[in-house]
Amino acid sequence: MNVLDKTFRPFLSAEVLNERIKELATQINKDYIGKNPIFIGILNGSFMFASDLYKNITVPSTISFIKLVSYKGTTSTGTVITAIGLEEDLSDKDVILIEDIVDTGKTMKEFVATLHKQSPASIQICTLLHKPEALQHPLDLKYVGFEIPNKFVVGYGLDYDGFGRNSQEIFQLDE
Ligand code: IMP
Ligand code: MG
Repeated sequence: MNVLDKTFRPFLSAEVLNERIKELATQINKDYIGKNPIFIGILNGSFMFASDLYKNITVPSTISFIKLVSYKGTTSTGTVITAIGLEEDLSDKDVILIEDIVDTGKTMKEFVATLHKQSPASIQICTLLHKPEALQHPLDLKYVGFEIPNKFVVGYGLDYDGFGRNSQEIFQLDE
């Protein structure tokens, strides 16, 4: 498959994704018995994953979506991550962040630190994909769909320069 100037080959089929997403939902349903978590999907990349995951969630819960914007700031790390669209009060809430992929971990690390200021009861990360070899900012990833090699992937919501999100399967860069 081609996206812009690059060629991709099939990597994770719709069947494989569906099966694993159901397993993740089952685990979350078990872990959150008696709680009312709030799921926060991180746009744009996680929209398909969040949708399919949430269809399989049975604990009473809510879901909301945000966009993360990073800009150069004056903190020690040099970047500040701001959430656009986060209107809920997260104090004492059990938060589950839904992400498409954790690569270096920078985005998630900064964002989780920001969220902690709202004093939620707990924050866990549920990411469909994780590239362990690329991780530079150690993170506690409670729910991981697939650990994948450090190669660029597209499809099922993930993009290459905005293109390639529209497929039921995930493709890997052919190099
Ligand atoms: P991190 O801060 O390096 O972990 O960046 C994670 C973000 O980079 C993800 O939310 C994606 O938007 C993007 N990203 C990282 N790797 C890929 C990839 O292989 N395909 C598409 N997007 C990616
Ligand atoms: Mg993303």
